[in-house]
Amino acid sequence: MSIDAPAGTGPLPLADGAALGSGAGMWTTKSVGAVPSLVVTDGPHGVRKPTGEGDHLGIGASEPATCFPPAVGLAQSWDPALVGRVGAALGAESRAAGVGVLLGPGVNIKRDPRCGRNFEYYSEDPLVSGVLGAAWVDGLQGQGVGASVKHFAANNTETDRMRSSSNVDPRTLREIYLRAFERIVRSARPWTVMCSYNRINGVFAAENHWLLTEVLRDEWGFDGVVVSDWGAVRDRVAAVAAGLDLEMPGSGGRTDAAVVAAVESGSLPAEVVQRSAARVAALAALAQAPATPPVDVDAHHALAREVAARCVVLLKNDGGLLPLTPGGGSVAVIGEFATEPRYQGGGSSHVRPTRVDVPLEEIRGYAPGATYTPGFTTDGSGDASRLRADAVAAAAAADVAVLFLGLATRQESEGFDRDHIELPAEQAEVLTAVLAAQPRTVVVLSHGGVLRLAPVAALAPAILDGALLGQGAGKALADVLFGAVNPSGRLAETVPVRIQDTPAYLSFPGEQSQVYYGEGLHVGYRWYDARELEVTFPFGHGLSYTTFDHRDLGLEAGPDGITATVTVTNTGDRAGREVVQLYVTVPGSAVARPPRELKGFAGVDLEPGESRPVRVLLERRDLAYWDVRADRWVLEGGTYEVSAGASSRDLRATATVELAGDDVRVPFTLESTLGEVMADPAAAAVLAAVAGEAFGGGDVATAGEALGVDMARMMASIPIERVLGLSGGAIGREQLDQLVAALNAGR
Ligand code: BGC
Repeated sequence: MSIDAPAGTGPLPLADGAALGSGAGMWTTKSVGAVPSLVVTDGPHGVRKPTGEGDHLGIGASEPATCFPPAVGLAQSWDPALVGRVGAALGAESRAAGVGVLLGPGVNIKRDPRCGRNFEYYSEDPLVSGVLGAAWVDGLQGQGVGASVKHFAANNTETDRMRSSSNVDPRTLREIYLRAFERIVRSARPWTVMCSYNRINGVFAAENHWLLTEVLRDEWGFDGVVVSDWGAVRDRVAAVAAGLDLEMPGSGGRTDAAVVAAVESGSLPAEVVQRSAARVAALAALAQAPATPPVDVDAHHALAREVAARCVVLLKNDGGLLPLTPGGGSVAVIGEFATEPRYQGGGSSHVRPTRVDVPLEEIRGYAPGATYTPGFTTDGSGDASRLRADAVAAAAAADVAVLFLGLATRQESEGFDRDHIELPAEQAEVLTAVLAAQPRTVVVLSHGGVLRLAPVAALAPAILDGALLGQGAGKALADVLFGAVNPSGRLAETVPVRIQDTPAYLSFPGEQSQVYYGEGLHVGYRWYDARELEVTFPFGHGLSYTTFDHRDLGLEAGPDGITATVTVTNTGDRAGREVVQLYVTVPGSAVARPPRELKGFAGVDLEPGESRPVRVLLERRDLAYWDVRADRWVLEGGTYEVSAGASSRDLRATATVELAGDDVRVPFTLESTLGEVMADPAAAAVLAAVAGEAFGGGDVATAGEALGVDMARMMASIPIERVLGLSGGAIGREQLDQLVAALNAGR
């Protein structure tokens, strides 16, 4: 038996078509007939090309590559142009290494700060994740290298990730968990999408026809290859039927034979195999761009530093302690991370860097006499009280202390979740002791997942958050500390006061392989705002060494959405970059909505005293909500309130605009309620006429008075078909059918 050939190839026997659908080994696809093999590799913040087979969790050696900031750091730039440059640099390194597809970006939503893999994801917000993810894909693919947007979908915990079911209601799935994927697929056309390990509402992603075919291909128009996460395929035949094209890694031919047998027995249509084979063949052809000469390692390191500096968030700066003066007073550097920087996460994304900037050395470039004491060790070795005492003495002897705190690689990684968000206890003790000895202490943080910072914020006058910044972290942090770079990073994730306040506190990471997303749409700031909870640092927060003013917010409704224009002025005495954030509220919405949602953002660089209008289109598709009755995106008509601000809790200007909505008419059925009918003026008139006839003209208001109730409200939840029983025989089934037909007439 043979199947039709993929375009551009010779006749292809069924066995060859099936063979194209699984890898040759860990990192290559098969060369079959005229279809060439291609190399895929991790991703996402560096090209992790293994030097041997059999290594997929960062255990084995890999070729050196530039380690750019992992997504947690990169997202803090809030800058798609910058992220696009990183994508392009990764594309160039991939091309030089002969890699056809780089496995990234990771755009899963940070549902809970404890997820061990949050360092590899961008944000708690789908717009930030989608805009930055699309920029990364555009940059990479512009170099002739394919992306693999992952992990599709609702993979928000590492615990039990190969079995657990993410149980999510449809509206939340669409508006929060699928939204970034949808944006990237529609606007950046990634060559591949990687399906996740987990189940979604009971069905494995790899076997999920609704997800891989109906949503991804039929709705979003994806025409690339769906690749499995490594080892995600349990039943290859079921996966192929659902829309999976490429199983990775290879199965040594075992699952290819199963596909052939399924086609021969008639349980799997041959065309399905043929279509998948054609997609893999097309991908292999796309990925044959000739390898380029080695990249300029120094230039890429310089880019890694520049990008890292743009990702640093200045969380706090009381009394203008920062920036420090180069060559100024004496500096005591404390903390093991100053000599052994933490700049990337553990697991499949772990890159062997081309070089690593050491913070202490870079600080000494600005403050040559800076002293160093470790203060603590991350592996618990050494005499803790001795280390602490030395740090206190050094801090007291200097004019200012710079204290590096954070999480070590083994405390968070792919493959497991944290069970708390605390700083290690010995570091908390050093913090207290050093601050008591030296009030002029700057805390510098390195971590992949959110930390509880309330104790740090209560003590330290200045805090720099580096998250994970890649191999240029050391220079980037020194540049910000000493003012060579004015910080412009913004938090892409809320810092809660305590873990008990977080949205999924009681349902993360689930149990017995079930995770219930009970908080629904209220993820991240959406939750803290709806519950009116204090947070330590809000989503979008980040200070600068200058100050900005936002004024004259203007809104204009158009066919593409709302164009917001706001004038931003640099009111300080240094050049700086502001990130204007636009949050939308829909006051009279017919559906439940978070108090405000980010619908647009833009960065602007301003000289001291300079003013500029910043225009941002709040796109129609981003303003829409997912209507579960119509099973589609709906733009609600009415008043939209838009606020421009410097964070989700620092809104500086607000205005409103009227927007014409979509006309959604869900057909009435016997299940429709009287309330739903009454909400539609034309249908309400039909109902009033029919009810009047049936009940001899008696009116609802008078009947309600007799019972002491608002009868119309009480009856609102009664489905039409229940009138049959409730009317005591006054209305028959046939009349109700006629009523429904009349209600729908003219709709
Ligand atoms: C990870 C993927 C990665 C793949 C290949 C999996 O364990 O979940 O993100 O791309 O391994 O290393």
